Amino acid sequence: MRRNTSIVLALGWLLLPAMPAAKLEAQTLVTPQAESRIDALIAQMTLEEKAGQLNQLSTDSLTGPEQIAQNGDELIRKGWVGGILNAVTARETNALQKEAIEKSRLHIPILFGLDVIHGFRTLFPIPLGLSASWDPELVRQTARYAAGEASSQGVRWTFSPMVDIARDPRWGRIAEGAGEDPYLGSAFARAYVQGYQGERLDDPASVVACAKHFVGYGAAEGGREYNTTEISERTLRNVYLPPFRAAVDAGVGTIMSAFNAINGIPASANAFTLTEVLHKEWNFQGFVDSDWTAVREIMLHGIADDERAAALKSFLAGVDMDMQSNIFLHNVPDLVRSGKVPMAHLDGAVREILRIKIALGLFEHPYVAEPAAPGPATAALGEALARRAAEESFVLLENRRVGDAPLLPLAASPGRKIALIGPLADSGEDMLGSWSCQAKAREMVTLRSALAERAARQGMTLSFAQGTDVSGTADSGFAGAIETAAKSDIVVLALGESGHSSGEASARSRIDLPGNQERLLEAVVATGRPVVLIVFSGRPLSITWASEHVPAILMAWFPGSQAGPALVRTLFGESEPAGRLTVSVPRSLGQVPIYYNHLNTGRPRVDPIGMGSNKPDPYYVTGYIDETNVPLYPFGYGLGYTSFTYSPVRVSAATASAKAINLGQSRLTVAADVRNSGDREGTETAQLYIRLRGTSIARPVRELKGFQRVHLAAGESRRLEFVLGRDELAFWNIDMKDVAEACSLYVWVAADSSQGSPARVDLTE
Ligand code: NOJ
Repeated sequence: MRRNTSIVLALGWLLLPAMPAAKLEAQTLVTPQAESRIDALIAQMTLEEKAGQLNQLSTDSLTGPEQIAQNGDELIRKGWVGGILNAVTARETNALQKEAIEKSRLHIPILFGLDVIHGFRTLFPIPLGLSASWDPELVRQTARYAAGEASSQGVRWTFSPMVDIARDPRWGRIAEGAGEDPYLGSAFARAYVQGYQGERLDDPASVVACAKHFVGYGAAEGGREYNTTEISERTLRNVYLPPFRAAVDAGVGTIMSAFNAINGIPASANAFTLTEVLHKEWNFQGFVDSDWTAVREIMLHGIADDERAAALKSFLAGVDMDMQSNIFLHNVPDLVRSGKVPMAHLDGAVREILRIKIALGLFEHPYVAEPAAPGPATAALGEALARRAAEESFVLLENRRVGDAPLLPLAASPGRKIALIGPLADSGEDMLGSWSCQAKAREMVTLRSALAERAARQGMTLSFAQGTDVSGTADSGFAGAIETAAKSDIVVLALGESGHSSGEASARSRIDLPGNQERLLEAVVATGRPVVLIVFSGRPLSITWASEHVPAILMAWFPGSQAGPALVRTLFGESEPAGRLTVSVPRSLGQVPIYYNHLNTGRPRVDPIGMGSNKPDPYYVTGYIDETNVPLYPFGYGLGYTSFTYSPVRVSAATASAKAINLGQSRLTVAADVRNSGDREGTETAQLYIRLRGTSIARPVRELKGFQRVHLAAGESRRLEFVLGRDELAFWNIDMKDVAEACSLYVWVAADSSQGSPARVDLTE
């Protein structure tokens, strides 16, 4: 009987709740019962036990005097460990938990955390790929699935989502976020939190989320990892903070403080962002975890000379838990005894940590069932979701006509000879991307294996040549690749970066195809065979030559477990590539940083709403003498297998009062008709952009403020409605107030950020 119960519990998470993301309420972490339970615990705790709750250690690396692998049991028994990261199996988490529950004085459970970033065992596309779906509900489901797999092993905390805005493709961690836009980034931030945390944190299938890295980490100088950032308070508030705010409003339980310094103050010792904004303005009730050794690193930043000073600055600024620095544990008690840290501050941090443990139900259910390996039913569900997520993440960048039709989708005609070429065609390892958690490279279905299976089933022939390595410099494989291409009817070329060239500590100073892949590409194209180029990458790559010479280009990111089947279904048209870019793709590295929502300057080349009589002298305009300002592919861009047209927008009123908007008493409705003008069904992502002119500070040339995915039959039209209210129209103005201002509002709905014809609305006082 007991056994059955635990199986049901272990597999209960399979039933993905049908509740759409928008309807999920943020969970309340503060309840009278939890708070009085915390009061009772705190009253019994010694200073050392309190400091123990602030201490988080990894099961592997040694970065301070204490280490789980060396004396973990003893530390846990003393109550000196509040959180552990990198324990990954039920056996491991249960064994460590047993020490805490059975042998520590106060029996406080340990919170186990892990980087479950785009899946635990079943792997979904990297977050940048998932964001290209423009489908937060899909992301809620993938996060929910990952939460189920992780929690079944006792991992109840994930260091996800990364909600850093990234405008520089050199920065490797661009792969881990939702791209360059705060509005879209906020939608995904909410979806991840809702997926991980579910309807209730004490559901055994829920994990507490961690929005990271607070804050501005993506603005690293030169895209260099861990680098310095200079961000004005206004830009911080208008661009970098909104996705964190969205996560907090969705009830995120934890926040990770970042490595970077913001305007000279390390983010992990930054009282303005951690205390003023996060706790006081936003009323965040969970706890702040430092990034890995970030507390220790403030010594290297240069604002502390020793561990005691690092502990003092970081802790007082608002970091509650110290990941792996081993500094709070050994310094906070004495800092309290000497009066440098008020006891109330320590109690506050402990309270926030205990609040999460209570909310997760860890005191009642500290252990998980063993073994907890997912059964076949789980695997089938995960496979289907992973395949759908991969399909939704693909962005079709080019699809020119070859003969009388666009090259894609391919016809599966018997006898067709397909050549598959390239170093990424058969690499399970690379399909993982960064942060692959417990996924196994051998379990990734590669393009080669899925295409071979399809070719065999439908009477086509497939020949394969690797051509070169991902970073190869030797051309010895070129001859074989050219010969394979020349004998085929169609070439599928799988090029790009290795799965590990993006993610943490993987900044690149070039953003083109690595090694000699560009030359392989040119050699294969020179055979004259029609080429479909599939680009695998964790960042936008400047594939400028390819964009001009290759008829079909599909951006595949790193698609995860079901890479091959998803790609094959897309190539043959059973699934349509409906992804849209969430980052601008530069033509050349010199254009970086390049993002769609930039300011206009006083000397723009073009202006989406026109310049009237203020057109500058075309010689003296912003830009380069040797490169355009226009990206290779803009934010929001992506083709499909059909085409869509847009009507001009209709706005519910020609004027509206800014005051009424600020009070929540007035909203504008914007409507547009989208028509599938092609001859097959398809999915479009309609995007609503605004521009504000006449404001107290310069506002971006365009800003995304709404989007809707619609599926339309050939010839079908749909009227789409968007709402513009306070949330969409307010910004941090010259007085550092978050308000809508009296100004001219331009609004339009289009297929991407480079198109559209604006309608004007007067926002009056
Ligand atoms: C460092 C990374 O910056 C962070 O994103 C991650 O969660 C931690 N290490 C823990 O692995």
